[in-house]
Formats: sequence, C-alpha cells, structure tokens
Amino acid sequence: GKKPKAKAARAKTGNAADRALAAAIASFRVDEPLSPLIDARAYASGAYPYADRPKRKSYEKELHALQIELLKLQEWVKATHERVVIVFEGRDAAGKGGTIQRLTQHLNPRFARVVALDKPSSIESAQWYFQRYVAHMPPRGEIAIFDRSWYNRAVIEPVMGFCTPAESAHFLEQVPAFEKILMDDGIRLFKIWLDVGREMQLKRLHARYRDPLKRWKLSPVDFAAPARWGAISAARDAMFLASQEPAPWTVVLANDKMRTRLGVIRQILAQIPYEGRDDRVVGIPDPAIVLDARDFLG
Ligand code: ADP
Ligand code: MLT
Repeated sequence: GKKPKAKAARAKTGNAADRALAAAIASFRVDEPLSPLIDARAYASGAYPYADRPKRKSYEKELHALQIELLKLQEWVKATHERVVIVFEGRDAAGKGGTIQRLTQHLNPRFARVVALDKPSSIESAQWYFQRYVAHMPPRGEIAIFDRSWYNRAVIEPVMGFCTPAESAHFLEQVPAFEKILMDDGIRLFKIWLDVGREMQLKRLHARYRDPLKRWKLSPVDFAAPARWGAISAARDAMFLASQEPAPWTVVLANDKMRTRLGVIRQILAQIPYEGRDDRVVGIPDPAIVLDARDFLG
C-alpha cells in the first residue's frame, strides 16, 4: 500500500540526512566555515530536551537572585567554618569557565578560590598523583572551585595518551578512598559534569577559533577533541560508574549556557543548609537538565 512506501521514503530521507550530518561532523575543521547542518543541529544535539533558548531577561533576573543566595552561602561557610569543594568536569567548550565565572562573580575571591591547574610539571609528574590537588583543598571557612580536577586522569589523560590505561584504572580504584578522606575531614564535595552535545561542541569550538578574545582557549587538546568524541564518552561513563560514591556525580545537560548556569547554582544551593536560604529563589534544579549520573547512564 501507500503507507509503507511513504514510510520507507521518509526513512530513506532520514538516513540521507543522517549521513550528510555525519559527513559534516567527520570533515569539521575550526578554520573552515561551519556546516549549516551542524549549526542547525547544535541546540538539539545530545538529545537536549528544549527546543528554544529561555528569555535573557528572566535568566538575568533569576541569576541575580541566585547570586544573592550564593553570598549568603559564602557568609555561612565563613561563619560556621565549613569547607566546600566544587569540581567541574566536561568536554572542551562544555561551558565550565563561564559557569564558574557566574558562580563566583560576586563572591569575595579571598574565600572562594578557583583552581585551574596547568598540566603537571616534571616535579609534579613524579609526585603522588593527588598531591598537587591536595595542596588546593580549602581551609575552614572557604570554598574551592576546581575547573578540571584530579579527574583528568579518568578522561583527558587516558584519551589523549598523557597517562597509561593502567594508571587511569589505578586512579579509578583509588579515587573513592581519596574522596572519602576529604569528606571525613569535613569537606562538602560536589562533582558536576557539564554535558555538551556533539554538534554544539563543534559550533562552540568554531566560534572560539573565530573570536580573537576566545582563541587563547583553544589548545591542542581542543583540536583533538572532536575526533575523540566516542573515546571521551566511554571514559566519562566508566568514570561515573567508578566514582558515584562517596560523592555522586551530577550531570548537567549543557547546550544552553543560561539554563546550565541556573541549574548548577541551584543544585549547589539546594544541598547546603545555609542560614537564611530562600527556597522560593533556590527552588528545585530543572530535572530535565540536572540529572543524577545514574539516571544519565540509564
Ligand atoms: P582547558 O580545556 O581546561 O582549558 P586544555 O583543553 O588545554 O585545557 O587541556 C585539558 C586538560 O588537559 C587540562 O587540565 C590540562 O592541564 C591537561 N593537559 C594538557 N596537556 C597535558 C599533558 N601533557 N599531561 C597531562 N595533562 C595535560
Ligand atoms: C569550557 O568548558 O568551555 C572550557 O573548558 C573552558 C572555558 O569555558 O573556557
């Protein structure tokens, strides 16, 4: 009959479109014009649950209210000698830098430090792997935010060949015990993975290359990232499985920067019982984009 034929035709078009997109992805280069196929697909990539950006005005209003809550949190951390560590991980161009910037924008930098370490020096490479990170753990009354972290050894390092598979496996065995020691010592540990879709990552890398103010962010690791998409996904999933305890991973679907920032800040605020928390402002992190890693893995 007619129907199956129409269906077959649709499937054929679908496959042709998929093939064209796959070809555009395979031939992606930051220094060539961005394929319109990639551009059109970027926002929805990685099964992103929203079709449209939110309104900037309402984002700015919400962000402002949440940043006031972050100040209350910081005051509480200082007053009660709490210690907070927030780890940000994710692929290149997932939006870690921009999220951390909004998180810390109005905080006192003396009590909320951002730790973004360069690749290990030769001395650091010869030390205990965790050693250089331990040196940046916050004293009482402070918050430390890691822009990439010891989890380099779970994803970037094995995928890029900066460590051996055995070293990465050894790390995954040790990391729960390492984090347990931190938490037993009173550190509240948050682990956040910003998950950007494939086409959105390409779109952002492309934009970064074209913007003279952002081009510095492009490193050899970024240039290598697109071809290693699958390897990074596999390493990410193995990392989630190995390190859900003692501190769970939160995955934030990150194709939309505004939603990402609000979701991350809410996720942190909602879990800390700071003095004067306004739950009407904090609310519940958007469950469509803020997920427990176990649910993300499905
Ligand atoms: P970012 O995305 O954080 O701006 P890069 O994309 O340049 O930085 O690198 C990703 C991560 O890989 C960084 O944490 C960096 O320190 C690390 N890295 C880069 N080169 C090496 C190396 N040779 N050995 C170990 N780690 C490295
Ligand atoms: C990202 O996640 O976007 C990058 O790693 C850091 C940045 O924002 O510059």
